[in-house]
Amino acid sequence: MTRNASLTDWGKIAADQLTYIANATEPGPGVTRLPFTPQHRQAIEIITGWMEAAGMDVHLDAAGTLVGHMAGPENSGIFYMGSHQDSVREGGAFDGIMGVLLPILAIQRLREEGISLPFAVECLAFADEEGIRFPTALMGPRALAGTFDPAVLEMQDQDGVTLREAMENFGLHPDDIQSLHRPRQEALGYLETHIEQGPILEEAEQALGVVTAICGIERHQITLTGETGHAGTLPMSSRRDALVGAAALVTEVNRLANETPELRGTVGALSLLPNVVNAVPREVRMTIELRAPDDRVRENAGQHIHQFATKIAKLHKLHLQIEGTYQQSAQKCDTALKECLTTAVKTTVGTALLLPSGATHDASAMADLCPISMLFVRCQDGVSHVSDEYASHEDMGKAVEAISAFLKSYAGANAR
Ligand code: HGY
Ligand code: MN
Ligand code: MN
Repeated sequence: MTRNASLTDWGKIAADQLTYIANATEPGPGVTRLPFTPQHRQAIEIITGWMEAAGMDVHLDAAGTLVGHMAGPENSGIFYMGSHQDSVREGGAFDGIMGVLLPILAIQRLREEGISLPFAVECLAFADEEGIRFPTALMGPRALAGTFDPAVLEMQDQDGVTLREAMENFGLHPDDIQSLHRPRQEALGYLETHIEQGPILEEAEQALGVVTAICGIERHQITLTGETGHAGTLPMSSRRDALVGAAALVTEVNRLANETPELRGTVGALSLLPNVVNAVPREVRMTIELRAPDDRVRENAGQHIHQFATKIAKLHKLHLQIEGTYQQSAQKCDTALKECLTTAVKTTVGTALLLPSGATHDASAMADLCPISMLFVRCQDGVSHVSDEYASHEDMGKAVEAISAFLKSYAGANAR
């Protein structure tokens, strides 16, 4: 059956495929698909079918990335596209996986239109971007970029399984990851398509947007330790209440982020001991996460929070432990790719809204290999990381068209 590729409803195909792969999940609401699990294996089988239908050669690399290769002329370089197959717990059916599928459909569309590109293309389904199962992330793109730190293989999940064990049980050989890095001179660029995960495109009534930069992140683990005592007999004047200190810190993070343009500050996790109604809290453990498209803004905020925490601990006679647990620099999208993508989006939907990404992505790590670009797809109600996460098939169809247009115009501008 030969179909007319330009009349095919690629958005509807995408919607059906994403509905189907959403079944590769643990039981429960939404999608829960963690790396190196039976659900990941299920997803690999489905994505392999997508890649093969688009005419790609498919293999699973040592980092658990599923690679779909579309050959190009000898020594013509490789253009990479993709995103992550994993999800958060009880997450949505679009985050990550939509960015795996849409470029594959764009390649399939070009192929059915009889268009061959003057370079090779690789579509990538990375195993672990969310860093939900293990306290690390972005292993796949870091492996390709040559920035993978093998020390993370010893990190454990909540059941005490190391990343190394999980990968070996999955049939992988983690020690081969070091050999995955790709030669820079071959890497032409990377395009990641992703649901916006925010409200900007919907408020602007735009189906698609072009990302200007991916925010940098820093995360801190804080422990404030005071002294517990009877809530009825311990006088207020002699208390060392850890929660009072933590509450001042939470308020300061929120104030600072509200008063600093483009800074986002979040206290996402907080636990206290002994956590009973009639005892003064003796210990609070909390996380602070700061994000900004400009690293200086984020770093200044981080220093301020450190100083404020020290001051508060002194004021409330608390012991303070504060440890930086994660840091990722902001990544600007490549100017030439951004312009090429902007032209493709304008051709497809008439205008191209440019916006930063508050969420981080595999592209953040691919930036160490090659120039990066990102295409955002409108996110209904701006909600993500929840089962209600939704992108319409109309918007996904426009994204497939924009990706195809991008590849054609990139080819025109960069044929070697
Ligand atoms: O945290 C993030 O921005 C991404 O969703 N992992
Ligand atoms: Mn996510
Ligand atoms: Mn994502």
